[in-house]
Amino acid sequence: MPTNPFLHARVAITGGTSGLGLALVRQLHAQGAHVAFVARHRDRVAEVAREHPGTHGIVGDVSMKDDIYPMALQILGDLGGLDVLVNNASDLGPTPLALLGDTECEDLERALATNVLGPFRLTKALLGALAASAREGRGALVLNVSSDAAVNAYPTWGAYGASKAALRHLTAIWDAELSEQGVRFLSVDPGDMDTPLHALAVPDADRSSLRRPEDAAQELLDAIGKARAMRDFRDERVASAARP
Ligand SMILES: NC(=O)c1ccc[n+]([C@@H]2O[C@H](COP(=O)([O-])OP(=O)(O)OC[C@H]3O[C@@H](n4cnc5c(N)ncnc54)[C@H](OP(=O)(O)O)[C@@H]3O)[C@@H](O)[C@H]2O)c1
Repeated sequence: MPTNPFLHARVAITGGTSGLGLALVRQLHAQGAHVAFVARHRDRVAEVAREHPGTHGIVGDVSMKDDIYPMALQILGDLGGLDVLVNNASDLGPTPLALLGDTECEDLERALATNVLGPFRLTKALLGALAASAREGRGALVLNVSSDAAVNAYPTWGAYGASKAALRHLTAIWDAELSEQGVRFLSVDPGDMDTPLHALAVPDADRSSLRRPEDAAQELLDAIGKARAMRDFRDERVASAARP
């Protein structure tokens, strides 16, 4: 591994125009990664791409089945392959947050489509590229952004919490199935951050008590870097054991 683990790494991030995703785009771009990011609002995607020359902004909605293959093709066309996928885009369910008994089925469906099915479909569409990255010893990894709501039963966070719990478990199973082939899966809770999503969920929060998304992004990058380095170490061991 070079000193900077993200130099020339090919990274795709969903939800890259705000909060945590934007902080990841900024930090990865600054570290010399090849970055593609996805979000729904065209103007904002263009603005973030302009502010970070060389990054690739992709307009798409991860909750929409028909958007996934075009999104995956654009990611691979823009980056020429993929080493790291960060499934970060997220939906809160009903806002204002609501008790499950007051949650519309459509709100639960949208949360599941964005937070579970979208990451699942996009991962599946990019699996071949990630496996190729693993074979080349580049440290293939998928990071699914989780939440403490995935493990704690917070009243009014039902749609979001259930979807994040499903994503967290899916991540563990992906990892159990694919780590032997060198594709690692992590889910990480970034903690409560001062972002538009948090403001929508908890409008009266004391913002000074919340984490800066930049700090959470650095922590996520440290976790990704560590997992990719361990992968390389194992590859190295396997490679030396196989030598005559
Ligand atoms: N903020 C917190 O306190 C907190 C705590 C725990 C976990 N998290 C998790 O951290 C992650 C980032 O949250 P954040 O607070 O940084 O959110 P945020 O500031 O609201 O940003 C969300 C990003 O996702 C994009 N997005 C939303 N829905 C999308 C969709 N269907 N398809 C494509 N892009 C979509 C948004 O752009 P467009 O609107 O243009 O699509 C935006 O770029 C999420 O997974 C969230 O659940 C956050």
